[in-house]
Amino acid sequence: MNICVVGTGYVGLVTGACLADLGNRVICVDRDAVKVGKLRNGVVPIYEPGLEDVVNRNVAAGRLEFTTCLRYGADNSDIIFIAVGTPSLPDGDVDLSWVKAAAEEIGHCITGYRIIVNKSTVPVGTQKMVTEIIRESLSGDCDFDVVSNPEFLREGSAVYDTMHADRVVVGADSKRAAEVMAELYKPLGCPVMITDPESAEMIKYASNAFLATKITFINEIANLCERLGGDVAEVARGMGLDSRISGKCLRAGIGFGGSCFPKDTRGMVMMGKKAGYSFEILNSVIKVNDRQKLKPVEKLKDALEDPDGSTVGILGLAFKPGTDDMREAPSIDIIKAVQGLGGRVKAYDPAAMPNAEKVLEDVRFCSNPYEALEGADAALLLTEWEEFRRLDLNKVKGLMRRPVFIDGRNVFDAGRMTGLGFRYYCVGRRDCGCCRHY
Ligand SMILES: NC(=O)c1ccc[n+]([C@@H]2O[C@H](COP(=O)([O-])OP(=O)(O)OC[C@H]3O[C@@H](n4cnc5c(N)ncnc54)[C@H](O)[C@@H]3O)[C@@H](O)[C@H]2O)c1
Repeated sequence: MNICVVGTGYVGLVTGACLADLGNRVICVDRDAVKVGKLRNGVVPIYEPGLEDVVNRNVAAGRLEFTTCLRYGADNSDIIFIAVGTPSLPDGDVDLSWVKAAAEEIGHCITGYRIIVNKSTVPVGTQKMVTEIIRESLSGDCDFDVVSNPEFLREGSAVYDTMHADRVVVGADSKRAAEVMAELYKPLGCPVMITDPESAEMIKYASNAFLATKITFINEIANLCERLGGDVAEVARGMGLDSRISGKCLRAGIGFGGSCFPKDTRGMVMMGKKAGYSFEILNSVIKVNDRQKLKPVEKLKDALEDPDGSTVGILGLAFKPGTDDMREAPSIDIIKAVQGLGGRVKAYDPAAMPNAEKVLEDVRFCSNPYEALEGADAALLLTEWEEFRRLDLNKVKGLMRRPVFIDGRNVFDAGRMTGLGFRYYCVGRRDCGCCRHY
């Protein structure tokens, strides 16, 4: 099939490249000329495992191209995906201005039947709104359908997730459009759930809100374990063996961040508010998550007493491993809080430092983890990159001024760390410095 993807970010680029890999002809459109220029020169502007290979392979095969011209994409496609950003507004509501602008432009461009697919995460009712905008923007008489097709990929494994999707959800009120979408996704071999647009839109928010709640729940259990005893990793293992619960998204840590869970939980609360409903569980999830992000700073204060004038080495800045995305990464709030206490910050991340430089001030970015920890009074591990699991911990201890290690992701074994002479803090596990302190 001939496909146009409007918005060539994490979702649009991965979707476009993977659909091309399935044999479709794909035109990726972005209004960011710098991004399009890079892609045309073979440079993939985001860090995502395996993506560069898929992009290069399909560009070489003539199935994938990049442009800033939506009219060119619209003229040469049967299906037009909208995959633009939907960030939070200051009050937590969803900013739909990019979706509206894309819909209007599509309306101006199309001249024959097209299926417009909304892949951006958008509140219930947006399919109807997009249909209206396109109808009002049409320059002539032209038939079209708008379907909702939310995206469930995870950054860090986006290509794998797309090619091995658990399910595809298509919300359509047109049988014709639903059949084309089912055909498009058939090669993935996963269930394609056809439903109404409102349910499809709700499925995306409900899924993200549920996962954010699950993460927050295990973080609360970790906080209780720190006071009462018990090891949250063992608790999660035991809970996860129950097939009704499953062990996924059940790792205690420093709270969720990233470009989706924070904004989508806020967006869902706002959706409820506008409908006269207070979504109490999600209000608490947001509050507890904001508190959880600052737990490492409490532990830092416990370990150093007065962090003023201390040097803190940060391992990991991205909101999760496998990505360079810094959007709402917990590291941002943590670093600002450490600086607020008078701490000097050195940091290392294998992929996210170029993006981190844009959002953090007065941080010394280092070329490897050892440089970040040299002379440090405390280490804060904030992202569980594989690289950190292989650290030479004896070398680390020798380099640090004080052997305080705050592991926000439970990467290391508490017994081993204390055996090596570290004052080791983790999240809700036995034998670590933090238990029964908070
Ligand atoms: N990032 C994720 O992990 C993820 C996962 C699932 C769903 N989503 C959802 O997918 C959507 C996109 O997210 P993202 O992370 O890919 O965003 P992104 O910011 O990485 O990319 C959006 C792109 O759209 C472009 N754009 C905006 N308006 C445009 C227009 N009118 N014409 C052409 N290009 C335009 C921007 O220049 C940018 O490159 C959001 O709604 C998000 O919630 C994201």
